[in-house]
Amino acid sequence: MLPWTLIIGVVAATVLVLVTLVRVHARHKLRRLLSSRRDQHVVLLGASSGVGEHLAYEYAMRGAHIVLAARRADRLERVKSHCLDLGAAAVLTVSTDATNVAALRNLRDESVNFFPDGHINAVVYCAGILNVCPFDVLLDAPGQENNEQATRIVDRMFNINALAPIHLARIFLPALRATADHIAATTDVRERGPVPVVAPSLTVISSVAGLLPAPSRALYCSSKAAMHGFFDSLRIEEQRRVANLTKAHDVRLDADVDRHLAYAPLPVQIRLVAPGTIGGTDLRQTAADASLWREGFPQVSNKAAMTPEFVAKEMFMQSEDVLVLPTWYWGAVAIRSVAPGLIDFMASKKYK
Ligand SMILES: NC(=O)c1ccc[n+]([C@@H]2O[C@H](COP(=O)([O-])OP(=O)(O)OC[C@H]3O[C@@H](n4cnc5c(N)ncnc54)[C@H](OP(=O)(O)O)[C@@H]3O)[C@@H](O)[C@H]2O)c1
Repeated sequence: MLPWTLIIGVVAATVLVLVTLVRVHARHKLRRLLSSRRDQHVVLLGASSGVGEHLAYEYAMRGAHIVLAARRADRLERVKSHCLDLGAAAVLTVSTDATNVAALRNLRDESVNFFPDGHINAVVYCAGILNVCPFDVLLDAPGQENNEQATRIVDRMFNINALAPIHLARIFLPALRATADHIAATTDVRERGPVPVVAPSLTVISSVAGLLPAPSRALYCSSKAAMHGFFDSLRIEEQRRVANLTKAHDVRLDADVDRHLAYAPLPVQIRLVAPGTIGGTDLRQTAADASLWREGFPQVSNKAAMTPEFVAKEMFMQSEDVLVLPTWYWGAVAIRSVAPGLIDFMASKKYK
């Protein structure tokens, strides 16, 4: 008799192959259309380095209007200058701390004023912060009452990775919906093309760590997992909102099928990007607990790391609601749902 683990392994591998084939097919179909997008008005938060910086270059090469935001104003100016060299139509930099709600509102208002006709097509949250030490370094010693440094680290991780993108969604979604309504009102659905090409989008970068556990990254994993819970749910709410609007249009316009088609409302596409390890970005140096790191703590090998250029290009050229990079991590997620011990063992070997 075959052992259960072998049967589970074969089933999981088959599912992985099928899912990969379907995804590759969908990807090729849309890739050409996505790469030819023009007239984009995009807001990039976390654009002073790493993936956000390179995403700015992808948009710049297509002649987009770009708002670059982050805290380091000097780095933003450098990215702006390169964007203009690459062909961006216009670039505005807005010094922004993502954890400050008033600053996020200011970013929205400055963006609306900056873009011709005030419409925003895409908002991408690229900001993020890592932790690199085992949770043990944050434990209160017996009798210790004021471990403020540990409190600050925990709060900072969740403020930047989890709370800020939720506030960002609160503040920018109405503006993105206004763009969707404008597109719906001024274009005929039969000439629009697929939703991911024409619909405005709100994209947040989480991490594979939001889907899979990693030792010494407990705060990072948990704060990134929160993004998945929130944005996956928000996507369903947004799709249901548009389905209800469509129904309302049916009532008013059912006598005129052509008009109904022409006015079909559009959802805002809510996207999550979950990359594995990326080399050559500032993420490790700026870890919330970098000052507590000691020799002997787990490290992850950077050998198989992706480049920020590659991740930015894939983000631009792919249209999935949840984009996992590299794609094979979906297999690890699937296997973990049936054999968690196997993936946890591999994670403990990866971070050693
Ligand atoms: N590197 C990896 O291995 C990896 C793997 C998976 C996922 N990710 C995720 O990918 C995203 C981009 O990371 P990266 O690797 O490109 O790192 P990075 O080079 O450190 O970029 C992070 C960006 O976030 C900005 N940022 C940080 N805190 C901010 C705040 N409070 N307000 C506004 N902006 C803030 C930084 O700009 P300022 O400092 O100028 O504000 C910077 O532009 C992050 O969400 C990260 O978690 C990275």
